Amino acid sequence: MSNYHIKHLEEYYQVYRKSVRNPEVFWAEIAEEHFMWRKKWDKVLSWDFSKPEIKWFEGAKLNITENCIDRHLYTRGDKTAILFEPNNPNEEAQHITYKQLHERVCRFASVLYEQGIRKGDRVCIYLPMIPELAVAVLACARIGAIHSVVFAGFSANALATRVNDADCKMVITSDGSYRGAKTIDLKGIVDEALKQCSCVETVLVAKRINSKINMKEGRDLWLQPLLDDAYHDFPPEEMNAEDPLFILYTSGSTGQPKGMVHTTAGYMVYTAYTFKNVFQYREEDVYWCTADIGWITGHSYIIYGPLCNGATTVMFEGVPSYPDFSRFWQIVEKHKVNQFYTAPTAIRALAKEGVSHVEKHDLSSIKVLGTVGEPINEEAWHWYDDNVGKKKAPIVDTWWQTETGGIMITPIPFATPTKPTYATLPFIGIQPALMDENGEEISGNQVDGRLCVKFPWPSIARTIWGNHQRYKDTYFSAYENKYFTGDGALRDEVGYYRITGRVDDVIIVSGHNLGTAPIEDTINEHPAVVESAIVGFPHDIKGSALYGYVTLKETGETRNQDNLRKEINQIITEQIGPIAKLDKIQFTNGLPKTRSGKIMRRILRKIASNDTSNLGDTSTLLNPEVVQEIMDNAL
Ligand code: WT7
Repeated sequence: MSNYHIKHLEEYYQVYRKSVRNPEVFWAEIAEEHFMWRKKWDKVLSWDFSKPEIKWFEGAKLNITENCIDRHLYTRGDKTAILFEPNNPNEEAQHITYKQLHERVCRFASVLYEQGIRKGDRVCIYLPMIPELAVAVLACARIGAIHSVVFAGFSANALATRVNDADCKMVITSDGSYRGAKTIDLKGIVDEALKQCSCVETVLVAKRINSKINMKEGRDLWLQPLLDDAYHDFPPEEMNAEDPLFILYTSGSTGQPKGMVHTTAGYMVYTAYTFKNVFQYREEDVYWCTADIGWITGHSYIIYGPLCNGATTVMFEGVPSYPDFSRFWQIVEKHKVNQFYTAPTAIRALAKEGVSHVEKHDLSSIKVLGTVGEPINEEAWHWYDDNVGKKKAPIVDTWWQTETGGIMITPIPFATPTKPTYATLPFIGIQPALMDENGEEISGNQVDGRLCVKFPWPSIARTIWGNHQRYKDTYFSAYENKYFTGDGALRDEVGYYRITGRVDDVIIVSGHNLGTAPIEDTINEHPAVVESAIVGFPHDIKGSALYGYVTLKETGETRNQDNLRKEINQIITEQIGPIAKLDKIQFTNGLPKTRSGKIMRRILRKIASNDTSNLGDTSTLLNPEVVQEIMDNAL
């Protein structure tokens, strides 16, 4: 029996048991048989959640790009590795074979080297979904530089914060990007950001929209001429198993974004192994994940996991609504996509437009459907199942996080019977636990609690860049000897998990993880604002949307409130990005606070959700009178 590819439910249980009874033997076997190592490990695992310190495959030497590219050159060199589908449906798709990818990555790596980038240096990548993005990521990995991809929808300020936090020497960007019918001036955003960043020495600029941009002497270089002159082969740098592969920022409930650090060997083994099983990828399949590479989903399941398995992975530059709402299905038909992985928010947005868009296209190639990013509601689940999968393609509702690196709780298609809204069973090697308010693990089924993980898995983030204490406080302090996810979950009568949502101040809007504190800090910078509080409320398409309560300096502020609302959303757009804009802004004379001065968000959440029949205990409030006023003026 090959433990690498699980096909039946009994096989799942058997392999799962093996993986938790003897994790080291299990993971060593997977790592040994399915990857290329320059040197094998001395020790499979050492860990201590109290420090916390986690090491997998210590002593091993490898390069992840050798696993993603070089080893396929003889067996599938002419197979398409990356299938690029442009924003404009009339522009031709690009089929980049493994051989071509090899050459492009090597040339790019040579350019990085020429520009003085060395092992361990941080390189920020701020690019749209064009092939250069995947190539840049892999080129960094090839020379051992740590990539920090910043989603190209983030504002100049958000970019600057991330560039500075990781002390990046280089930024890779493009002149601009296409987004549906619009173009975006990416280079202009980079120029704005870099006014605040002294660490950046070089900016490499890819040409995408042929716009006129400023090139700063001595800093900015056009990428293409450098690539044309670069050497077409570049030997992969030999990396240690625990060398950082990348930093990726995610929002916390407080403070600055957290630069999650993922390391090389464990991340590679786990993303490759999950990819193979969760999507049941077969050699001739075409796999498409619609996420942006700026998020962890794109890192793990557009680039590393698929390429490690020699897969064909689609990269789509555009949006689901351009030129119309049938674009996704048109692409599925055109490229005969076999596995399709998207977010519940996209499903809801498409469902709203009606089934006619789906019906126009032949979707018979689809074998497996996936969702990720937030809980999927029952209606969206059935719409997806009925209209896209035609009830024949199992839906894998995959629960995981930026911090976990790979999929943690998920059905295995054709093995695990699915159940709407349930992520179902822990993946191989994953040991979840539900905890009660007293910090005790809850045993048995038909229970709910806070979701933790009791044992390390190979792709767990190892630290927060530059702030190990925060890593410890955030994930390992709530419950002794356990990784705390920040999510609540319930376990049904057969042991299936359903993720019920965040239990902290993180709100998931259209699948994007947003911390309330940074948005509040931004609003508070507005000269008319005293303070603010943000909560989530249910939204048909976005899952959750943001509701802001804002207290102004002058009571009876005479200025037009709609203008103020616009200004507030404008600063949020500038400082963070349009994804963090508030759907509703209510002006208040004060916010409900406890005697210790903490804003009681529980109450604000209920008001925003229009659920005020029982506000719970308000006896500890310092200013109970504001509650009635806020309720009276609720939007
Ligand atoms: C949070 C992590 C993992 C890639 C995308 C998001 C929520 C994620 C599910 C799911 C219910 C989900 C959780 C988690 N989440 N997938 N299938 N069902 N909730 O990564 O930005 O790090 O967000 O997304 O709340 O903690 P992220």
